[in-house]
Amino acid sequence: MPAQSMDEIVSLCKRRGFIFPGSDIYGGLQGTYDYGPLGVELKNNLKAAWWKANVYERDDMEGLDASILTHKLVLRHSGHEATFADPLVDCKNCNSRWRADHIGGECPNCGSTDLTEPRPFNMMFKTVVGPIEDEESYAYLRPETAQGIFVNFKNILDSTSRRLPFGIAQIGKAFRNEITPRNFIFRVREFEQMEIEFFVKPGTDEEWHQRWVEARLAWWREQGLSSDNLVPYRVPTADLSHYSKATVDIQYRFPHGLEELEGVANRTDFDLGSHSKAQSELGISAKVMENEDSTAKLAIQDAESGKWIVPFVIEPSTGVDRGVLAVLSEAFTKEKLDSGEERIVLKLKPHLSPIKVAVIPLARNKPEITEKAKAIKKELQSAGFGRVFYEDTGNIGKAYRRHDEVGTPFCVTVDYETVGKSDKPELTDTVTVRDRDSMKQERLHTGELAQYVQERLK
Ligand code: GAP
Repeated sequence: MPAQSMDEIVSLCKRRGFIFPGSDIYGGLQGTYDYGPLGVELKNNLKAAWWKANVYERDDMEGLDASILTHKLVLRHSGHEATFADPLVDCKNCNSRWRADHIGGECPNCGSTDLTEPRPFNMMFKTVVGPIEDEESYAYLRPETAQGIFVNFKNILDSTSRRLPFGIAQIGKAFRNEITPRNFIFRVREFEQMEIEFFVKPGTDEEWHQRWVEARLAWWREQGLSSDNLVPYRVPTADLSHYSKATVDIQYRFPHGLEELEGVANRTDFDLGSHSKAQSELGISAKVMENEDSTAKLAIQDAESGKWIVPFVIEPSTGVDRGVLAVLSEAFTKEKLDSGEERIVLKLKPHLSPIKVAVIPLARNKPEITEKAKAIKKELQSAGFGRVFYEDTGNIGKAYRRHDEVGTPFCVTVDYETVGKSDKPELTDTVTVRDRDSMKQERLHTGELAQYVQERLK
């Protein structure tokens, strides 16, 4: 049974330390969330899986970590100052404000249909840079990580000698002053994106677009999302972003409905082209290329023809927070046990689980058992596959319940037999390993543990 409601996920996240409302003790700051001890692990694991698949396991990708504070000219020439806006309406009855395309003509607060005409509301956060606050001393918090990639296109080309096709990948924060943040971490004002700008020869863009849609669907399935819950959707021309020739959204069946998890856009040469044009117009000739037969500066020399071309760009772009919400929703399971009890279990893919192994001493007050459990914890931790947790609650049933709920794939129990204090000396140095999903237990030698876990984390 999948998660019945967002409420169940929100409650689990708070109870077990995944996600808390931002600025909580002062009543919260709308549209912000903080990731707690388990949330930060889950989020880091999702980002690591993305980086591994898209940077380490490909031979046509470079990484980047650009700054969040962005020059206003970058976002002017990218088109964001003029067009990165949502339609805002006011309710004339209760004065609340809404995104026009989210409410269907009726105020969700008071039900009135007496609304103002929609007007564009720019979603970028402005901030003052430096000690003087005047008209000109502002910059933006980036609304997408993509622009950091475009402005570094030449730097990366010059320092890596890449040829087309190749991509630049980046994970980082983005900020949008959403009119109505909602649905937990689905729509927030501060979030993280995982973005690729993949540069290709014009004319090969449509084929690469299709390839990236398929690659991204396959990656989400590897994170545990089922094919039934992943729905590609071709965005109608009228709804395309200002830079896009074609976009396929990868939609996911979230608890609140089918919505965008990732967008895969064909951004053409829009961004490199408009930044190049701006460079020429502003007379910024950082480095005018020799043999140049166009005015473009953000260009690459074609290996065959020797001509300078502005590449087209395919952009798979997803939100880390939406990814976290999707894998949590998919993994959240309620099961009826034979005993009649209900258990909540988070069936996360083991590589995403915040805790990989919980090591549990059967008795809390027996130093030979607790010392052995600590030694096993230390040894497993040094195997390098992620967090191993020493779980000293003293109640094995409670420990299993807690680790089922947070998705720990393996619980290792250290008992009297492990330390040779039983009538079964042959079991000395063995432990029980309990599998989260099947709840089956098996006895393993401590020397086999690291490999056993390692093999099951893939
Ligand atoms: N560079 C392209 C771009 O930013 P987008 O469709 O506006 O495109 C890409 O955003 C992804 O970023 C979305 O698919 C979504 O996963 C995530 N995202 C966008 N706005 C968000 C918000 N307010 N809260 C959480 N995630 C968001």
